[in-house]
Amino acid sequence: MELNELLEDGRAAPKSGGALCIEGGVPLRGELRVQGAKNSILPLLAASVLCGGESVFHNCPELSDVAVTVRILRYLGCACQRHGKTLVVRSGALDRADIPDRMMHQMRSSIVFLGAILAKCGEASLSFPGGCEIGQRPIDLHLSSLRKLGVQIREEHGCLFCRAPHGVTGGFVSLSFPSVGATENLLLAASTGRGTTVIANAAREPEIADLACFLNRCGAHIYGAGESCVIVEGVPRLSGSEFTVMPDRIAAATYMAAAAVTGGTVLLRGVNAGHLMPVLSAFEETGCRVLQSGAELLLSAPERLGPVRHVRTMPYPGFPTDAQAPIMAMAAVGNGTSIFVENIFECRYQHAAELNRLGAKIRVEGKVAVVEGVPKLSGAPVTAADLRGGAALAVAGLCAEGETMLLHPKYIDRGYEHFERNLRSLGARIVRV
Ligand code: UD1
Repeated sequence: MELNELLEDGRAAPKSGGALCIEGGVPLRGELRVQGAKNSILPLLAASVLCGGESVFHNCPELSDVAVTVRILRYLGCACQRHGKTLVVRSGALDRADIPDRMMHQMRSSIVFLGAILAKCGEASLSFPGGCEIGQRPIDLHLSSLRKLGVQIREEHGCLFCRAPHGVTGGFVSLSFPSVGATENLLLAASTGRGTTVIANAAREPEIADLACFLNRCGAHIYGAGESCVIVEGVPRLSGSEFTVMPDRIAAATYMAAAAVTGGTVLLRGVNAGHLMPVLSAFEETGCRVLQSGAELLLSAPERLGPVRHVRTMPYPGFPTDAQAPIMAMAAVGNGTSIFVENIFECRYQHAAELNRLGAKIRVEGKVAVVEGVPKLSGAPVTAADLRGGAALAVAGLCAEGETMLLHPKYIDRGYEHFERNLRSLGARIVRV
């Protein structure tokens, strides 16, 4: 069946698996409300384990990673119910303090349950999350910093056995790298710990501030989240609360890139432009006009994009590694040469070879990628190997001449809610087959 027929047939409903079939060349126009942040809701849901009673999360995105997290919550003994964009979690005493291997392997970020389960039960056993599509992802910082809070940890046959028989104690932790996950685990573990914990060189990502804001609403005493020194005064208990998840800054950047490569104009609603500063500068460098008013961002692209010159990924407030791939798709059709330096993950250029299949000219050497912009890409079969790389391939497909068949869209479903439906609402010709 041709793309045209599929679009008319209404068989474009989002489904997992299959492939995304994209016919490029349509300038995207229209407006879109940006989803709640994946990287915020996952730790928030882990936090709900710690809080007795009911936690209500509004603006909760429908993602496969959220579905995996809900399965973990239910396994632990929490009741979860979704009503549209609101997810309600009821938690009491947990049934168990472990997460089975099969669940840990479905989502590496399930390691954020470690701090929450430990704080709640005084023990936790989880399998080691191991590496993933974007490289080795050690958890040494999570473990060494939890040990500083009095947690005993045994690593055996790929499993972690953690105990804090007398509860988590306060302490001073200085992270050698501002790891997002390690900072989140520390906040969770220390919130109901005994005494005060000081986290130096904490991650400053807005999702950290979102987590702390929720925990404080539940009764925690966390000061300075979002800055590099965070202080947590342990409280005896937390009780569930109502919370609206922050907007997803990476989804916003991805839809902006999609509009930019097609020479389109989009209005994004429900964004926090303050979270997107280095990314907005990259768009402006390519000649896009970006106007911000309150929670709205308007992007209009020139006929031909310029290059982005230098993108160096850094911990927040630097350029986010998660936006590297979508911005590279944009640089691929920029009029000039752009240089990328990936400083956060060791193996985060898998999309470069696939972009080259579409006609891009990208050379990768170690952590550096040199992108020589070409006037046009052309459709081809490509394969997603990770979440953001997959989204970047879709962005490229939207401006490529002819048809792009994108395999393994399941990676995209991990982090983008109604991806192709959203793009279609802007005029894109994209269906799941
Ligand atoms: C989170 C985000 C991810 C984002 C990343 C960096 C979630 C669910 N995921 O991942 O989308 O790309 O932040 O902004 O929020 N490291 C160690 N030892 C550790 C922990 C981390 O060496 O114990 C290294 C990692 O291998 C990586 C770097 O530190 O090279 C950054 O990792 P981290 O900030 O922890 O990212 P995540 O929390 O895994």
